[in-house]
Amino acid sequence: MLLVLYTCLLWLSTSGLWTIQAEHSSADVNAKNHHRGLAPANVDFAFSLYKHLVALTPDKNIFISPVSISMALAMLSLGTWGHTRTQLLQGLGFNLTEMAEAEIHQSFQHLHHLLEESATSLEMTMGNALFFDHSLELLETFLTDMRHFYDSEALATDFQEWDRASRQINEYVQNKTQGKIVNLFSELNSPANLILINYIFFKGTWTQPFDPNSTREENFYVNETTVMKVPMMFQSRPLRYLRDSELPCQLLQLNYVGNGTIFFILPDQGKMDTVINALSRDTIQRWSNSLNISSRVNLYIPKVSISGAYDLRHVLAELGIGDLFTSNADFSGIIQEGQLRLSKVVHKAVLQLDEEGVQASASRVVTPYLTSSQSFTINVSFNRPFLILVFDHFTWSSLFLGKFVKPT
Ligand SMILES: *[C@@H]1O[C@H](CO)[C@@H](O)[C@H](O)[C@H]1NC(C)=O
Ligand SMILES: *[C@@H]1O[C@H](CO)[C@@H](O)[C@H](O)[C@H]1NC(C)=O
Ligand SMILES: *[C@@H]1O[C@H](CO)[C@@H](O)[C@H](O)[C@H]1NC(C)=O
Ligand SMILES: *[C@@H]1O[C@H](CO)[C@@H](O)[C@H](O)[C@H]1NC(C)=O
Ligand SMILES: *[C@@H]1O[C@H](CO)[C@@H](O)[C@H](O)[C@H]1NC(C)=O
Ligand SMILES: *[C@@H]1O[C@H](CO)[C@@H](O)[C@H](O)[C@H]1NC(C)=O
Ligand SMILES: *[C@@H]1O[C@H](CO)[C@@H](O)[C@H](O)[C@H]1NC(C)=O
Repeated sequence: MLLVLYTCLLWLSTSGLWTIQAEHSSADVNAKNHHRGLAPANVDFAFSLYKHLVALTPDKNIFISPVSISMALAMLSLGTWGHTRTQLLQGLGFNLTEMAEAEIHQSFQHLHHLLEESATSLEMTMGNALFFDHSLELLETFLTDMRHFYDSEALATDFQEWDRASRQINEYVQNKTQGKIVNLFSELNSPANLILINYIFFKGTWTQPFDPNSTREENFYVNETTVMKVPMMFQSRPLRYLRDSELPCQLLQLNYVGNGTIFFILPDQGKMDTVINALSRDTIQRWSNSLNISSRVNLYIPKVSISGAYDLRHVLAELGIGDLFTSNADFSGIIQEGQLRLSKVVHKAVLQLDEEGVQASASRVVTPYLTSSQSFTINVSFNRPFLILVFDHFTWSSLFLGKFVKPT
């Protein structure tokens, strides 16, 4: 029997309303506050996963939602036993002597609720669902726990009629992601008996939309030898900017409505790997503390989309979560009879950067207060490979991590 874990996500259109309030320094990624209980483990896992993916696909764009992957795998752990379960939770970065298993699931439950609350101002939908073949008899405890901790629906389907079943799942995901993820299953060739899905749909909105009239075709320097054309968006105003003194990069932090914060990181020419290798909880913490509203910035950001679709099997094995895919895997928490085999962990994410918020509503406009003491202007053009990190800074969840190397 095959089980497939799907996490599919979408970050659409950073349009509309970004706030650039100077933040009181609430940015403690390492703190073990109640609402940040999972942050240390999840952020470490996020960067670790990201670095492995970068190493596997060095010249490709990367886009993932680490918090969704953590959540989906933690949910899956409810159905595992013994060594499989320990390995999975430890692989996700949890120290089981410090944090009891029940506490992990409770924390994810809490996190899910917090992100949902944020979502009311963020236009974000996050959720879990389980599709299973109606011939399978799933254990009641598994279903109850999934529902209780992860708010997951369980939907019986006839997998023998795969065409219809896959259509149903595609439609479900399409509905939940407001039509943005379609044909989730176009890449799945082997029908499964059980499919776990985690989806996140997110629409970040700029405080101050880019003026489409300022968007121009400009060069994007992929590397020393390749130059491509991209539509380049432009705006000019005081922003939280930092020329890092420790790492070879410049960065901007933009906050969006609600608890979201995004880092745009521009490594110096040829220094992409140095910057990626240095990404960690401490680096984020240091950046958060040192970013300040600075002088006026002439900001150029390409109007592009970044996407990623991954079968995470190999990368999870590299992260120490290998048993899941072998015959040693113990899924006896899901079904009593028979053996279940995990065939894939698939993750899909899309990001679209563009100028304006079609759906931006006036009620959400937050007037930025600008405290710029300096009068000179800095030009920052994201016209060479750059990184994007999106966090929910209330919980310090890493919603999305991306690397843009070239237009597709
Ligand atoms: C887990 O936590 C315990 C107690 O804090 C510590 O002694 C142990 O080294 C930790 N294990 C790992 C793998 O970090
Ligand atoms: C998707 O939404 C449409 C319209 O709201 C509804 O008719 C359909 O049943 C939904 N499909 C699923 C799978 O939920
Ligand atoms: C963009 O240009 C068009 C045509 O020149 C003009 O009608 C429109 O008002 C401009 N939009 C903005 C936001 O300036
Ligand atoms: C530059 O990028 C192009 C397009 O991705 C690639 O074909 C080429 O090999 C790269 N050149 C170098 C020197 O990395
Ligand atoms: C931040 O998240 C918390 C918890 O979800 C929520 O109560 C709060 O309203 C959010 N803040 C904003 C500004 O949306
Ligand atoms: C940020 O700006 C404030 C007010 O101008 C200043 O007191 C503080 O030292 C600055 N912080 C950093 C890290 O530059
Ligand atoms: C910023 O760019 C503008 C327009 O390209 C240019 O005139 C100006 O000299 C640049 N400023 C700096 C500090 O590089």
